[in-house]
Amino acid sequence: RRLSRDPATSQPLAYLRLRRAIRNVVEHRDIEPGQALPSERDLSRLLQLSRVTVRKAISGLVEEGLLNQRHGAGTFVAERIIKPMSRLTSFTEDLRARGLNPRSEFSERIIGEVTPEESMALNLSPGVLVARLHRVRYAKEEPLAIERSVVPASILPDPTIVQDSLYQILETLGARPRRALQRLRAVSLGAQQARLLHVPAGSAGLNIERRSFLDDGRVVEFTTSWYRGDIYDFVAELQTD
Ligand code: GLP
Repeated sequence: RRLSRDPATSQPLAYLRLRRAIRNVVEHRDIEPGQALPSERDLSRLLQLSRVTVRKAISGLVEEGLLNQRHGAGTFVAERIIKPMSRLTSFTEDLRARGLNPRSEFSERIIGEVTPEESMALNLSPGVLVARLHRVRYAKEEPLAIERSVVPASILPDPTIVQDSLYQILETLGARPRRALQRLRAVSLGAQQARLLHVPAGSAGLNIERRSFLDDGRVVEFTTSWYRGDIYDFVAELQTD
C-alpha cells in the first residue's frame, strides 16, 4: 500500500528512503504490531530495489527495535516496546515512533523544596526549589509506566504547563536534555504500583533512574520510573573499544 506509493527508489540513499517509508507504514498502523512485512524478495520486486538495499533498510529498523526478525519466519512489526538504550529520547517520542499516542495522568505537579536525596542527584544546594511531576503514562488506555520527575524550578518554574511531554516543554524552554546517565534495575512491583499499572502485585518491572544534563553540565531532570516488565525490552548495541 503506502510502500508502493512512496518514492523509495532512487539510489544511492534508497535504503534510507525505504527505511523512512517502512517507519511511516508502522506509524500509520498500515501494518499492525505482530503482523508480517512482505518478504525481502517481494519488497525488492515490488519497489524495484536491490535485495541489498531492502536488507539494509530492514536491518536498520530491527536495530531500532521497530521490527523483529524470526529466523525462517520473516520480518514482523515488533509487539513488545523495544527501547534502544543508546538514544536519549522521550517516552512520547518512543511511542509516537510506533504509531501510538501517549498520554499522562498526573497525581502531582508542584513546586517544593529539594529533599536531601534530590539535592544530591540534581547537584543543587539545600533549600532550592524544584518542580515535581508524578504521573502514570498510558498508550491506548493501557498504563505502561509510572514516572516521578524532579526538575530544578530555575528551569521549569511552572510544572502545570507540562500536559504531556516533559521534553517537549523543556525544548521550548531551551533546556532539552543533551546527555543522560541511566540506571536500570529489575524490581518486583509493589501492590500500589501494580494497581496503577494494571498488573498483578509482584509482577516484574524495570526501575529506571535517569539523570539528564544540559550542554553546560547542569542537571535538568532526575526521573525515577517503573516500567512494566511484561511489555518493555531495553536493547543496546555493544561495540568493542
Ligand atoms: C522517558 C525517561 C524519563 C523522561 C521521559 C520524558 O520516560 N525515562 O526520564 O523524563 O522519557 O518523556 P516525555 O517527554 O514524554 O514526558
